[in-house]
Amino acid sequence: MLDQLDHMLEQAQKALENSRDLAELDEWRVRYFGKKSELTEIFKEIGKLPGDERPLAGKRANEVKTALERAYEERVEVLKGLQRDALLQERFDVTLPGRPIDVGRLHISTQTLRNIYGIFAKMGFQVFEAPEVETELNNFELLNMPPGHPARDMWDTFYTTREGILLRSHTSPGQIRAMRKYCPNPIRVILPGKCYRYEQVSSRSDFMFYQVEGLALGRRITLADLKGSMIEFSRLMFGADREVRFRCSYFPFTEPSVEVDIDCILCGGKGCSVCKQTGWLEILGAGMVHPVVLENGGYDPGTFSGYAFGMGPERIAMLRYRINDIRYFFSNDLRFLRQF
Ligand code: DAH
Repeated sequence: MLDQLDHMLEQAQKALENSRDLAELDEWRVRYFGKKSELTEIFKEIGKLPGDERPLAGKRANEVKTALERAYEERVEVLKGLQRDALLQERFDVTLPGRPIDVGRLHISTQTLRNIYGIFAKMGFQVFEAPEVETELNNFELLNMPPGHPARDMWDTFYTTREGILLRSHTSPGQIRAMRKYCPNPIRVILPGKCYRYEQVSSRSDFMFYQVEGLALGRRITLADLKGSMIEFSRLMFGADREVRFRCSYFPFTEPSVEVDIDCILCGGKGCSVCKQTGWLEILGAGMVHPVVLENGGYDPGTFSGYAFGMGPERIAMLRYRINDIRYFFSNDLRFLRQF
């Protein structure tokens, strides 16, 4: 009987390998496991064996049964796989090239911000983050613009329904936060982030945009330091042969205040439509930190001095890449964004 079992196992395994689809497999199952199968017969026979032969035969019969069951399960999986492949080949042309996967990229403002961080990092500036939702106190008052100060009109501000809370209209309030955090130590930080203005949206101004503020405080910082770092910045950003011009200006939080121009990157100073025939392009505002602002930040204007500056990365990118409308930046048109 043991021989019979082994022989049956061998036969069944061969038959299994030869089954080519699930229907044939089912026939196989009926044949080897069914009520009328050889195996069922063998189990019946075992009952009739003499007592001392029974355990061995029973054990072997069970082993064969388990082996067949396992082989059957495996074959089911193999045949299902083959069937699936055949179906796929019928419906899909697997030799067609795949669809290209769209790869994301950094937004042009992010790229420009990173350029700016890189340049100022070389000069020892760290990034300092300040919130977009600000107090009126930080945004205006502590920057030397008390309520009713006419300079507040320079920024058309989004106020919230909470008294004294607004969306910052510039990154300058971050100066107060940085000073209060680092006082009485020297400071060299840049403060990047979004700003908001309640303004008519046009090709030149959006209601949301980025700014990068800078602040350097120390014991002997002068206007010459401000000029040196702004010249270095504009050359690294716009090219080594750029001319830089400082113009007198006014900001309530700096004294003296300047605006920084570079010679027009399009016409080189001869005059064109981009520079409005002036030959110059404005890139940022800056100045020596006003004594009142130093005091508000906790610094003694008798010992400390410093400079501050503020620039718009979108404006800088517009100049570098000759983009003529700021609205492209945040209207999410991939045809525009993919170019950078
Ligand atoms: N906050 C100014 C603005 O939004 C830009 C600015 C000018 C920042 C002069 C400064 C500065 O720190 O010194 O127009």
